Amino acid sequence: MDWFITVIFLIVFCNSWIAFGENTFDVLKYGAKGDGTSDDTQAFEKAWNDLCGANQGTPTLVVPSGHTFLVHQTIFKGPCKSKNLHIKIDGNILAPKRNAWGSCSKRWLHFHTVHGMTVDGSGVINGRGDDCIAIKGGSQFINVTRVTCGPTTHGISVGSLGGGKDEEFAESITVKNCTFNGASSAARIKTWPGGSGYVKSVIYDQIIVNNVVNPIEIDQHYMGTPEKKEALKVSDVTFSNIHGTCSGENPIVLDCAKIGCDNINLSQISITQVNPKKPSKTICNNVKGKTNVNVSPSLHCVQT
Ligand SMILES: *[C@@H]1O[C@H](CO)[C@@H](O)[C@H](O)[C@H]1NC(C)=O
Ligand SMILES: *[C@@H]1O[C@H](CO)[C@@H](O)[C@H](O)[C@H]1NC(C)=O
Ligand SMILES: *[C@@H]1O[C@H](CO)[C@@H](O)[C@H](O)[C@H]1NC(C)=O
Repeated sequence: MDWFITVIFLIVFCNSWIAFGENTFDVLKYGAKGDGTSDDTQAFEKAWNDLCGANQGTPTLVVPSGHTFLVHQTIFKGPCKSKNLHIKIDGNILAPKRNAWGSCSKRWLHFHTVHGMTVDGSGVINGRGDDCIAIKGGSQFINVTRVTCGPTTHGISVGSLGGGKDEEFAESITVKNCTFNGASSAARIKTWPGGSGYVKSVIYDQIIVNNVVNPIEIDQHYMGTPEKKEALKVSDVTFSNIHGTCSGENPIVLDCAKIGCDNINLSQISITQVNPKKPSKTICNNVKGKTNVNVSPSLHCVQT
């Protein structure tokens, strides 16, 4: 009888051990060096592929502290098996220098068609010329919390979406407790004229911006592209508790397509100029929603 219990015990124990082992994917175990100069892109991609195929508990991709990982342009593509992925960034992630990318690459850490994911950690993401994190088409239920971006990067963007007249969507995205240092943008939604689909239910909350060029932005004329008949519909967006300093002229830009953005709420925002002599202007076109008195610089163009 004893041997039987032992066997049962071993089976249960081994299974739970394997299950545990199989849902944590540490990039170091995939050959990442984390020395800041070796190319760790492949290790990240392999770890992502295993994460994406995992379905036990909360599959977690670990970027461990005490290291700096050099990662080239990468698309982390879903759909994945689990709707409860976790990416824990405790180490630093660095993009290659911009001139090492080729002239038209505009992608770095992009998440595509991912349904259900949390990104957090104490590390710093430095995009050196592109998005810190971009949430691309087909993505929903994504939470980014406590991520720090900077010093030379773009922000945590939803988009760009609708390029090449594509129909795309992104929804239920929450970016909370994130800090942007010296970045060119922070909270940003960008879509191309001519595309279709929608962006909805996006929250940027508890954001600190230090010396950021464009802290808050909805850009539906991405890359200066003029208005076209088709556009993505942007709605149900909250920008709240966003504080800090801006180095550009327009701390808040809400440039919506003619079809209009609906239900865009701004509250508890104070962004001052790094250079106090510089005036602060806001831009807003075709925006419906709500702002409160605690939004500075004030916006008078949001219609209810
Ligand atoms: C994201 O956060 C919301 C509320 O903060 C929570 O309900 C949801 O489960 C979270 N999603 C994931 C994938 O963790
Ligand atoms: C945000 O940060 C504050 C202060 O550090 C902390 O109290 C709060 O729990 C954090 N919230 C989230 C969603 O991480
Ligand atoms: C915006 O504010 C209005 C009025 O307070 C509220 O009804 C609506 O649900 C809010 N929208 C979002 C996206 O939070």
